[in-house]
Amino acid sequence: MEQLLQQIEKYKQEIAEVKAETIEAVESFRIQYLGTKGLLKTVMGEMKNVPNEHKRAFGQVLNDFKVFVENKFNDLQQSNVGSEASAEKSIDWSLPGSFAPVGTRHPLTIVRNQIVSIFKTLGFAIAEGPEIEDDWHNFGAMNLPEDHPARDMQDTFYINQNPAWLLRTHTSSVQSRVLESQKPPIRVICPGRVYRNETISARAHCFFHQIEGLYIDENVSFADLKQTLYFFVQEMFGKDVKVRFRPSYFPFTEPSAEMDISCLICGGDGCNVCKHTGWVEILGSGMVHPKVLENFGIDSTKYTGFAFGMGVERICQLKYRVNDLRLYSQNDVRFLKQFTGAV
Ligand code: DAH
Repeated sequence: MEQLLQQIEKYKQEIAEVKAETIEAVESFRIQYLGTKGLLKTVMGEMKNVPNEHKRAFGQVLNDFKVFVENKFNDLQQSNVGSEASAEKSIDWSLPGSFAPVGTRHPLTIVRNQIVSIFKTLGFAIAEGPEIEDDWHNFGAMNLPEDHPARDMQDTFYINQNPAWLLRTHTSSVQSRVLESQKPPIRVICPGRVYRNETISARAHCFFHQIEGLYIDENVSFADLKQTLYFFVQEMFGKDVKVRFRPSYFPFTEPSAEMDISCLICGGDGCNVCKHTGWVEILGSGMVHPKVLENFGIDSTKYTGFAFGMGVERICQLKYRVNDLRLYSQNDVRFLKQFTGAV
């Protein structure tokens, strides 16, 4: 009996010193001391060996021991509040959550998506081509043979001179890709990045974005070109914006025209965006040159078509009044987050 009491005293000392820093450790304490095969059960089992006259007193000791072990277990549990299992009990589910910051679409992506969806309503499909092009697809097929002076209009980044690999200077190269792989009727728009060897400034950059359009079928006329682009301008900028066409020159179209819209910044009164003319150029266009069609084996007596190419940065400048091209590629979050909420 005396021995048993001493043993219980020893257990108590041992238990008092137990530390449990994880939920797993608290659980092993429970199993070791309070479990169905735990120490408490074993000690309780000694009752049957205790002589009857001592049973009452021993019962008291056992009870104290049980309370002691249980208190220790509760203490260990409490000191682990904050760790996972116990954390669950202490979370206040009614508090508002904290949100991870959500990114925004790049303004050029927003504008490109708007342009693309307008042309989609007219039945245009999207076509894409490579940014690294060969001379033929970027120039030759588009009626700019070697030594053509119009090549100087676009300062080209060459990767290789012979054979000539280059970074495409315009998305008109995608016209070549489409014409070699599809048969008329063709109705595509081609969004993409283009490159020119320009010194970077507020008004020029060595890469920018264009959207090309190409429509080829029987009996396509300049009136179709105008109607399509009028529709685009009204959808993009609203009904009040005025439009004008100016005769122009591009090797891949004949006749060619540039399209201006009334300046959205000053409403046509004159400002530095429209160089005090009240008009801003937004795209080049024209009837596809018969040579371009023939380069791809398309009968130019049967088929005609129109094409156009516009700069996404320019349209973005008019829509959102971004007046420095460098802002688009600087990744400055203060600039980018102003477009939150736009689609
Ligand atoms: N490729 C021309 C440029 O980059 C833009 C252009 C003009 C595209 C007339 C066309 C077009 O498809 O018909 O300046």
